[in-house]
Amino acid sequence: MLRDSDILSQLLSRRPKTSLGRDFYTAPEVYDADMRLIWTRDWVYVASAPEIAKPGNFVTVQIGDYSVIVVRGNDNVVRAFHNSCRHRGSRICQTAKGSNPKLVCPYHQWTYELDGRLLWARDMGKDFDASKHGLKPVHCDMAAGMIFICLAETAPDFAPVKAEADRYTAKHTLADLKVAHQSTIIEKGNWKLVLENNRECYHCSGSHPSLCRTFNDDPNLVGADDSVSSPAGAAHVARCEAAGLPSKYIIDPNEQWRLVRIPFVGDAVSYTMDGKAAVKKMLPGMPFANAGSLLFFHYPNTWNHFLSDHVLNFRVLPVSPTETQVTTTWLVHKDAVEGEDYDIQRLTEVWEATNDEDRHVVEQNQLGINSPAYEPGPYSDLQESGVIQFIDWYVATLQNRMVGRKVIAAE
Ligand code: FES
Ligand SMILES: [Fe+2]
Repeated sequence: MLRDSDILSQLLSRRPKTSLGRDFYTAPEVYDADMRLIWTRDWVYVASAPEIAKPGNFVTVQIGDYSVIVVRGNDNVVRAFHNSCRHRGSRICQTAKGSNPKLVCPYHQWTYELDGRLLWARDMGKDFDASKHGLKPVHCDMAAGMIFICLAETAPDFAPVKAEADRYTAKHTLADLKVAHQSTIIEKGNWKLVLENNRECYHCSGSHPSLCRTFNDDPNLVGADDSVSSPAGAAHVARCEAAGLPSKYIIDPNEQWRLVRIPFVGDAVSYTMDGKAAVKKMLPGMPFANAGSLLFFHYPNTWNHFLSDHVLNFRVLPVSPTETQVTTTWLVHKDAVEGEDYDIQRLTEVWEATNDEDRHVVEQNQLGINSPAYEPGPYSDLQESGVIQFIDWYVATLQNRMVGRKVIAAE
């Protein structure tokens, strides 16, 4: 049985630029610490705004033991509530998504307004005060057309990431998008292995034949440092900035999120097998098709690609110490017509294949780490600077919250 103090001492004695110890990828106690100290403390991406485009549209999301409803109100405001009835606690919304004019608990039909107020409860007597039994709110905000929630009592300041993510994505006109496709897979690996795998392209040439047709795996474009040090990257950023597309590498002082626009390989304009656009109707605000990909990650659970013809949002949610759900959402211009302006198979094939390839490498990574023979190995400074950056953020965050004060990351 690992205690927090055992986890903390492992964090403090960690070798820098080296993968984490086995417990961090396998132990229920570390998973529990991750849920308590990161997942229920930080802003977590839950859905893209067009998923709940109309009043009454909702999604539910499970974060550890918490079930949360995210719903659009009649006033068009998106709110989040704990999915636990104020009568005897039943879950109210029992599907991953849906639409209802009111939120009605299926158990005894207590009925809530979309803004969480309790409207109706049968036979509760004259002393019953409905105003004291509204749904419990959860912090909810939006950045880059993506809905984030925070389960902490006091949420961290969301304003900086919101301001920059909105500014960088403004020309992608997110309010004018619709969901073209969504897929959810379960990867049998710890959530940190899913993030680590996303934060490097060391594995790309060996694993992603479709993606590598268009995605530039030059580490100087996609790493945490020197992101625009390559001439191609710098030229791309300059050209896009001149056209009014914010593109320069920018990273949060706490290194929890980052934005940068990178070029595709050659003259590709989208993640397709031939590099040509996947959607005929370009996003209306974009000045030209060859804008590359605006990359936006926010820890602990999302990375995203904003292109000239579509947007890809990725959501990661832990299911258990060794299982992680990954949901991918493809968004296109809301006036684009399926079959005319785009074909779902062509739009999705590269990332459907890439996700499956990533699932495979993450699962093999987990199986290898499950062996008692596993020991932490060194990261490549050149190829895995993004993984080093993610793991440093994770270690510093967990460490700081365990000791309740600022502790310098083990260097
Ligand atoms: S538990 Fe919801 S109405 Fe009874
Ligand atoms: Fe990958």
